[in-house]
Amino acid sequence: MRIDVLTTFPEMFATEPPAALGVSIPARAVKAGLVSIHATDVRDYTENKHRKTDDRPFGGGPGMVMMCQPLWDAVAAVEKAEATPTTRILLTPQGAPLTQVIVEKLAAKPRLLLIAGHYEGIDERVIEALAPMEISIGDYVLSGGELAAMVLIDAVVRLMPGALGDEESAGQDSFSAAAVPISKKESVERRLLDCPHFTKPREWMGQTVPEVLLSGDHGKIAAWRLEQRLSRTKARRPDLLP
Ligand SMILES: C[S@@+](CC[C@H](N)C(=O)[O-])C[C@H]1O[C@@H](n2cnc3c(N)ncnc32)[C@H](O)[C@@H]1O
Repeated sequence: MRIDVLTTFPEMFATEPPAALGVSIPARAVKAGLVSIHATDVRDYTENKHRKTDDRPFGGGPGMVMMCQPLWDAVAAVEKAEATPTTRILLTPQGAPLTQVIVEKLAAKPRLLLIAGHYEGIDERVIEALAPMEISIGDYVLSGGELAAMVLIDAVVRLMPGALGDEESAGQDSFSAAAVPISKKESVERRLLDCPHFTKPREWMGQTVPEVLLSGDHGKIAAWRLEQRLSRTKARRPDLLP
């Protein structure tokens, strides 16, 4: 997969440590050639000598608005760099909330083009002309779309086959769905929160590990885990249950 990011802070998308995308699973995925991440500075496409990407809002009011032309030209140039068509995504607090279902769909695309806004946002006309998917990472406002883009990149990249050390682990995470068609009952199970996990030592500060996990009985362990997932989801996120 190729991921392009249009931003005024391309340095945030470095893929060398200690940058966020230069460590852990994203770094491993980049190194293994599962994904390539290309950040493009929207300022490179400005037509004014101060490389300004923003201007005062019509109608007055505080803040600045990102102008149409630099962004439009940047999208055109970046899309031309490779023949693979892009899925355009604008990060915005007004977009559809990012969910694991959306992440799974995006992970199956060959190329993503992420647009990070700044200031008050982006001139509405270029948003309409580009017609991107609009995605929010939550009901709060960030200063810019870069961190939101990184959240999306991390969530997508860890689903690339080979990105995780243990291929099994993504399928067991909270909210995950199977890539293959599954029964209705199982699909409910797969949208549940994850069960609690324990590791060595068996006893820590007087607290022991649930006995069933030490039993070696795989059927009992699977039943316990499912029960835990159900009760957790009911207690913490009842909205996920049908
Ligand atoms: C200060 S925000 C602009 C907020 C805009 N005035 C509004 O209220 O909808 C600047 C940029 O940060 C990004 N951003 C802020 N919050 C976000 C969120 N929750 N999810 C995704 N992107 C976000 C967007 O790219 C946005 O253009």
